Parts: sequence; structure tokens; C-alpha cells
Amino acid sequence: MEFGQVLRGRRMVRAYRPDPVPEDALERVVGVVRRAPSDGFAQGHRIVVVTGAAKRAELAAIAEPWYLENGHQPWISQAPVQLVLGVREASYHERYQEGDKLAEGDSEIPWPVPFWWFDAGALLVLLQLAAANEGLATGFYSPAPPEELAALAAVAALPDDVSLTGVVTLGYAADDPAVPRAALARRRKPLDELVTRLA
Ligand SMILES: Cc1cc2nc3c(=O)[nH]c(=O)nc-3n(C[C@H](O)[C@H](O)[C@H](O)COP(=O)(O)O)c2cc1C
Repeated sequence: MEFGQVLRGRRMVRAYRPDPVPEDALERVVGVVRRAPSDGFAQGHRIVVVTGAAKRAELAAIAEPWYLENGHQPWISQAPVQLVLGVREASYHERYQEGDKLAEGDSEIPWPVPFWWFDAGALLVLLQLAAANEGLATGFYSPAPPEELAALAAVAALPDDVSLTGVVTLGYAADDPAVPRAALARRRKPLDELVTRLA
């Protein structure tokens, strides 16, 4: 598939067909984690692949009520796969205490940008592009209430040192993806507001 087509296919959806995701396609999608960029090659990314109906329902029961109350379809329940994304911050501290990474005075850098969160976003986009390349669609949810995040992490059995960043829903998009695409297109900012050049 040509890159422009993959990029246009990256759009998030909030409605899925019930069709399952073929196992080989799922493996190719989650396999991109080994190619995801990470600061210092710390590789703090973690993914929990949830395909079982009972566990998917447990995740949906935590995050979906808000969407249902706000007029959305049960898109989290519909998705045949959920990918719980986590990041292990400790991997970055461990890496930056190694000899080649120690700053002056042999101390760890002050982390003006917490790169574990930065890298978590990079993984999201890589997963979305890999899914689009398979003709699959993605969505993403990350509830604001900390107790809901904690409940999702508990269902996914994330270890204590792994923080949950959000959950990717994966599947085949419904004919109507249930997203306000025309409204989003009207809000898309002009390129020169987002990109400036210094000659
Ligand atoms: C970091 C991040 C968090 C998001 N969180 C949510 C979320 O909690 N729930 C949701 O329905 N969509 C969420 N979205 C989806 C955005 O609303 C969506 O990406 C945006 O409308 C642009 O649409 P597009 O990705 O299809 O271009 C999130 C997107 C990103 C990048």
C-alpha cells in the first residue's frame, strides 16, 4: 500500500464491524513495537493484547459508560481486539544511569521532556499506521478519571512499574465510522500555522 493511502487510513473510528482480526495481521500490527523509537533505546513500551470476550467486556464496562451517555455507539465493546498500552518509566531511569548517558557530575539528566510519554505517543501512531496498512481501523480511549485508568490497568494485569497510557481498539471499521469527519475537516488548521520555516 502506498504511504499516502496508509496515512489517510490512520483516521480513528468509533464503530466496528463484528469481524475478527486475522491472527497474522494482529501479529504484524503489534510487532511494530520492536521498531518503535525510544529515547536512549530504553524500550519502555509495553502492550497487552486483549482478544478474549470476557476481558474485553471488563475493559469496556469501565470506559464505555461515558460514551454511551454521550450518544456514542458501544464502539469499545464492538472492537474485536483491544491493545492496552503501557510505559515503564523505570526503563528510562535505568538506561540514563548507564555510563554513556550520565550527565555532568555523574547524575541522571533532569528530564525537561519526560520522554517515556513522548515515546508512548510514537508507539500509538506506529500501531495506527500498521493497522491501516492491514486495512484495519483503530480508536483510542484514555479516561480522565485516575480511578478508571487504575481499573483498566488492573484488568490488564499491568505490573506496578508500568503506567497505562490508554487503550487502542482494533478491528474493521463499520460502513459509518461514527466520527464527525466533516466537522474535523473544517477545524483542520492551515499548514503555515503548524509549520514554520527558518531559512
Ligand atoms: C493522545 C490522544 C488521546 C485521545 N484520547 C481519546 C479518547 O480518550 N477518546 C476518544 O474517543 N478519542 C480520543 N482520541 C482521538 C482524537 O479525538 C482523534 O485523534 C482526533 O479527533 C483526530 O481524528 P483522527 O485521529 O481520525 O485524525 C485521542 C487521540 C490522541 C492522539
